[in-house]
Amino acid sequence: MTNKLIIFDTTLRDGEQSPGAAMTKEKKLRIARQLEKLGVDVIEAGFAAASPGDFEAVRAVAEMVKNSTVCSLARATENDVRRSGEAIQPAKSGRIHTFIATSPIHMQHKLRMTQDEVVERAVKAVKWALEYTDDVEFSAEDAVRSDIDFLVRVFDAVIQAGAKTLNVPDTVGYSIPFAWGERMQQLIARVPNSDKVIWSTHCHNDLGLAVANSLAAVLNGARQVECTINGLGERAGNASLEEVVMAVRTRRDVFNLDTRIDTTQIVTTSKLVSSITGYPVQPNKAIVGANAFSHESGIHQDGVLKHRETYEIMRAEDVGWNANKLTLGKLSGRNALRQRFTELNIEFASEEMFNAAFARFKELADRKHEIFDEDLQALVSDEAVALVSEHYALVSLRAHSETGILPVAKVVITIDSAEHQAEAQGGGPVDATFKAIEQIVNSGTELQLYSVNNITSGTDAQGEVTVRLAKAGRIVNGQGADTDIVVASAKAYLNALNKLHSKMDRAHPQV
Ligand code: KIV
Ligand code: ZN
Repeated sequence: MTNKLIIFDTTLRDGEQSPGAAMTKEKKLRIARQLEKLGVDVIEAGFAAASPGDFEAVRAVAEMVKNSTVCSLARATENDVRRSGEAIQPAKSGRIHTFIATSPIHMQHKLRMTQDEVVERAVKAVKWALEYTDDVEFSAEDAVRSDIDFLVRVFDAVIQAGAKTLNVPDTVGYSIPFAWGERMQQLIARVPNSDKVIWSTHCHNDLGLAVANSLAAVLNGARQVECTINGLGERAGNASLEEVVMAVRTRRDVFNLDTRIDTTQIVTTSKLVSSITGYPVQPNKAIVGANAFSHESGIHQDGVLKHRETYEIMRAEDVGWNANKLTLGKLSGRNALRQRFTELNIEFASEEMFNAAFARFKELADRKHEIFDEDLQALVSDEAVALVSEHYALVSLRAHSETGILPVAKVVITIDSAEHQAEAQGGGPVDATFKAIEQIVNSGTELQLYSVNNITSGTDAQGEVTVRLAKAGRIVNGQGADTDIVVASAKAYLNALNKLHSKMDRAHPQV
């Protein structure tokens, strides 16, 4: 058994199944570029058959990435597998990940298929996939609630058909570490030729045990972990990549395994994923939370100053904290900005896009003394939004709040280039702003989430606002950043409305 642990990142697939986190091709490319730099072995770029947009996104990632395998998910149907095969075709190293449910509850109620039919379909899917690549992964969806004898039968059949990686998912986040480790151990012991394939684990976090379960599987022979940045994913999310990687690295005495991950890229990757998806990272989140390395109590501070290891098991700089470089300021020119964007792996599709980013940079530098890498990341996110021809766009905003007086906001927006304005009162300036926008657009949406995060520290930091809106079963996250959080809020609200307006119809793999 090898001492290499394969890190399979599914932020761009399972991660984007989080409500409102669906990503455009451009956003996926930015994250994929960073995942490659982070050193993940496999990037699951999406579910190619979900929609033409998803197909294009997987294909674009496959064209761009050179140092990681690029994978597409496919249900065990001929169309799904062939779409995946076509999407990964340009990849230097491409994988098809096909799956079918194996639990009685899924087979009976969702698939309406017998065990024999499921085995037959799984084998067919693997064979279709082999027409495109010899790197084929098979997952037994809901393996956690599947009968172990049936799992042995399915896995045996797909190994014979040619699958190289066998994934055992806890689709519903039901397992506990002891049982999950035992399941992995039994499968490896019972499935014929189990030593010829890589065993993989994919755990959801419904009971908060995704990382613990994944590690239990690793201790029992799994050599691939499927995980996501910040633990993003369907419902309560997936196992968090940064936690799995740092557990294996910090407790090398227990695992004796290596990954290819450049851990100093972890924080940058976490921040990028958070700002692109609109999912903030909780401050006390392990590894990437703002407080993960800060010592509050006097006794701890004293201990750390005397000897760091008294209270720290990892070094903040090893996961990329403190890499927060002061990059540029008001006097920085075009060349300096261009070079910093290149160092951050940010490319512009045209000179026009770069010029627009430069103009916004200058505007920001007038309001904010020090510009950090995170500011530049937010600036390009905003810029990409501004350059897409938007249905709704903010022209101007005036918000007034004063103690004892009801806040009022006046907004001017364009709808398809025609200007409209409205004024409204609200519980606070943000509430008044949203009400004024709604007076104009009358969107009929439900506001599900509003959150503000500071991008860097200090009172002149940009606030990054996320707004989640729902309408007729669709959920979108809108984002906006500005040093004025009321303006950032208006941008985020309009960004969400634009996403709802640009209908992105896509199938869900597990429905
Ligand atoms: O959770 C799950 O079972 C999945 C599969 C498609 C691997 O995401
Ligand atoms: Zn999943």
